[in-house]
Amino acid sequence: MAKPTSSSDLTNAISSNSSSDNAKAATSRRTFIGASAAASAALSSMVHSSTARADETQEVRIAVIGCGGRGSGAINDSLTINENIKFVATADLDQSKCENLRKAMSKRHPEKVDVADDKMYSGLDAYKRILDDPQVDLVILTTSPGFRPFHITDAVAAGKHVFAEKPTCVDPVGYRMCLQADEKAQANKTAIVTGTQYRRQVNYIGAIEQIRAGAIGDIVSATTRYCSNGIWYKNREPGMSDTEYELYNWMHFIWLSGDQICEQAVHNIDAMNWVMGSAPVSAYGGGGRFTRPADSEMWDNVSIDYEYPGNRIVSFMCRQIPGTETDNGNVVYGTDGMCYIGAGSAGSRITDRSGKEIWKMEGSIGAAYQQEHKDLIDSIRAGQPIVELKQTADSSLTAVLGRVAAYTGKKVTWDFLTNESKLDLFPKDLKIDGERPKPAFAIPGQTPLV
Ligand SMILES: NC(=O)c1ccc[n+]([C@@H]2O[C@H](COP(=O)([O-])OP(=O)(O)OC[C@H]3O[C@@H](n4cnc5c(N)ncnc54)[C@H](O)[C@@H]3O)[C@@H](O)[C@H]2O)c1
Repeated sequence: MAKPTSSSDLTNAISSNSSSDNAKAATSRRTFIGASAAASAALSSMVHSSTARADETQEVRIAVIGCGGRGSGAINDSLTINENIKFVATADLDQSKCENLRKAMSKRHPEKVDVADDKMYSGLDAYKRILDDPQVDLVILTTSPGFRPFHITDAVAAGKHVFAEKPTCVDPVGYRMCLQADEKAQANKTAIVTGTQYRRQVNYIGAIEQIRAGAIGDIVSATTRYCSNGIWYKNREPGMSDTEYELYNWMHFIWLSGDQICEQAVHNIDAMNWVMGSAPVSAYGGGGRFTRPADSEMWDNVSIDYEYPGNRIVSFMCRQIPGTETDNGNVVYGTDGMCYIGAGSAGSRITDRSGKEIWKMEGSIGAAYQQEHKDLIDSIRAGQPIVELKQTADSSLTAVLGRVAAYTGKKVTWDFLTNESKLDLFPKDLKIDGERPKPAFAIPGQTPLV
């Protein structure tokens, strides 16, 4: 069995709790959607109370839904960069994660934390208590990705401002929910900022400005890589139901993580959509698994050719295999030169066709993680809330497109995925103590295109 080897991402997580996720409540897709409609009707007054709170002098009150590594990192970033905000409530499957987060933030930001004992909720339905609370203005959505479309939909219906981590969906049904939520947030004038931090990193912004200004001529193609030495894996604890185990070891179940290409490599895919100016037209590629534990549904390598408008190809590869060479970054090839955009804080540079460096810029991913929370709060206070969900939903679906092409062994089009695909991974009858089907991984030629 492969062992856990690295954190899931370039996270600036400040804490992580690997104790058993002790969720209690039961839920279902129907319940989520029903709750959303009901919340929409019953809580419409909150929409006004939230949007009314755009005044700079008013405190913005924040709750975290999903208090793991990134939930901790995101609230810490927001409390660090913003003044006149307060952390007021938490929800997680596991009560101890709520308590640990309150403790950690109270130590770091004592004057900005006011989470009462009865504002820490646990269980699958805990997020609804947060959305029902008129004292909460903004929710940070940092659970495993499979829940994201539901949490976003319900948060928007409840009139909350949202920070939503990537990916925002792991299938086309979730994508369509995101598009609806984006439209509704725009109509409500509530914000949705997403965890695609590179969009706020100075060397990414600088590189793309250079490309747009013609520094490498016309874009011909690009390569993007997210290759690392592995990912964490959590062994099943005694007494866990199938569902509890899958929620606990969520990375390895496709309905929850979307596989590496969605969960992790979406950062680079998002950068490519940004460079190319749109989502791709189609994807074709392959991959497989050599090193995953037997009950993991993940592959450990995927390579895709994404075709973008104008017959431009982005060659994409992601891999999580111990002992292999790591590579994380993007290269954009133009008629007059090349632009390198390194992931993390590796910086950007442009060379001409002879290899001579003609431009470079440094950038800090840590600063970008904070900037997204500053932009979010500033936009709320200015009464011009940022709504960027569609952009990140497009990038998340671009990752899904690559996964579906690789899993099925077919060339798959954006048009098919957005308009025809019925792929819907979220379980219909999710119960915390319930059984789940035996885990299975995709096999090209056998896995159907749906
Ligand atoms: N932007 C980035 O660079 C970055 C970095 C790391 C993680 N992420 C993203 O953040 C998200 C969380 O990742 P993580 O590393 O923090 O995972 P994690 O396992 O550390 O935390 C997830 C938390 O959510 C809780 N949870 C799960 N389902 C829930 C539900 N239905 N209701 C309430 N709580 C629930 C879990 O108990 C857990 O505490 C993922 O989407 C991941 O891709 C983004």
